[in-house]
Amino acid sequence: MTKEKLVLTASSATTTQSGGEGAESPSRNAVKRRSFLKGLGVAVAALSAGSLLATAAEATQRSGIITVGDVAILRFLAAAEILETDLWQQYNELGGIQDSEVPGGSGSPAYTSAIEFLDADMAQYIHDNTEDELTHEVFINAYLVSKGAEPVNLDKFRTLPSSQATGAQQIGRLTNLMQLTVDTTWWTRYRSRTQNPDLGDTFAQAIPTLAVGQHTAIPRTDEDLESKNFLQAIGNTAGFHFATIEQGGSSLYPKLAQRVTSLEVLRIVLSIGGTEIMHFQTWSDKAGNAKVLTNVVDPVTGVTVTFPDLNSPPFGGEDFQTNLIMPEPTAFLSRKLPACSIIRPTQTRGAAMGALNALTADGLFIGQSKEFFRFMRTLAIEADLALRES
Ligand SMILES: [Fe+2]
Ligand SMILES: [Fe+2]
Repeated sequence: MTKEKLVLTASSATTTQSGGEGAESPSRNAVKRRSFLKGLGVAVAALSAGSLLATAAEATQRSGIITVGDVAILRFLAAAEILETDLWQQYNELGGIQDSEVPGGSGSPAYTSAIEFLDADMAQYIHDNTEDELTHEVFINAYLVSKGAEPVNLDKFRTLPSSQATGAQQIGRLTNLMQLTVDTTWWTRYRSRTQNPDLGDTFAQAIPTLAVGQHTAIPRTDEDLESKNFLQAIGNTAGFHFATIEQGGSSLYPKLAQRVTSLEVLRIVLSIGGTEIMHFQTWSDKAGNAKVLTNVVDPVTGVTVTFPDLNSPPFGGEDFQTNLIMPEPTAFLSRKLPACSIIRPTQTRGAAMGALNALTADGLFIGQSKEFFRFMRTLAIEADLALRES
């Protein structure tokens, strides 16, 4: 019996015992499907022991099944994509292009022009990044459903306030873009030719003042549009935050890919992960165009931010030079091996919890409920327990 047939048999047996799928409520179906998935893990182990996947043709049938570990990885990624969509949606409403692909806001011309100091096409890029995240979220959830697994829904956590600036929708949000502490070490990490976080190295901040205190990356009210310098500081903050978010995705996908079992799930993770890298490189390039600003004070909080000239001393050189937008080759796996141009970090242990902790440290969840953190931590723990099955 092939693995595919065995899975179908197991599925129909479950259905028969419970009286047929069509007769059941959605909630009962969900429970039944979870039970089926648990059973599936056992079936996979038994078949592997019997060497039934010896040929390439049989191996392709692995795409028809999904393990509990793969479901856990995809559920964490679905949640991460929902959170990404939520934050990108807020950027798009005020600084992107509002159309039928990414509806909702009505735009803030002053904020949009501050962001466009970094590149004339920023509004288009913000729009496209937002749409990409939305499709990631919808696709992963639809794939989970197609395999009989539960999708992720964070709607009950949409409780955070929207910006009060003209252009933003007034709806509950999952993420907070108005109190960010932005980690900009990705800048020096990707420019180093000798250091790698997977080998224990740490990296300097490109914009040290963004990495302390709380900074808004969108206008909170129309009053934030009044000072030209402060508005540009908000635009610069957004420009660096875009890359901070997307470098996280660039690492998260390859980290989790190492523990995926199904070839089809691996294909999903590699294919979506690649677009996160495309986003990161775009934003990495644009952040280098941020306007030089010195000691700009937030009129509401009193917090100060400085965007230095990264091409001049004491900055400059390979660790800071703004046109080094492709990864410098660096140590990979072992310092004894030759330097290699790579995504970093990619070590897989604790990948999901690490991503959740980084987003939390970013300030994105300031104001979220204990229940939200409990839910997200559970998803992360489950994803980090997933192991690649042979
Ligand atoms: Fe994404
Ligand atoms: Fe992303």
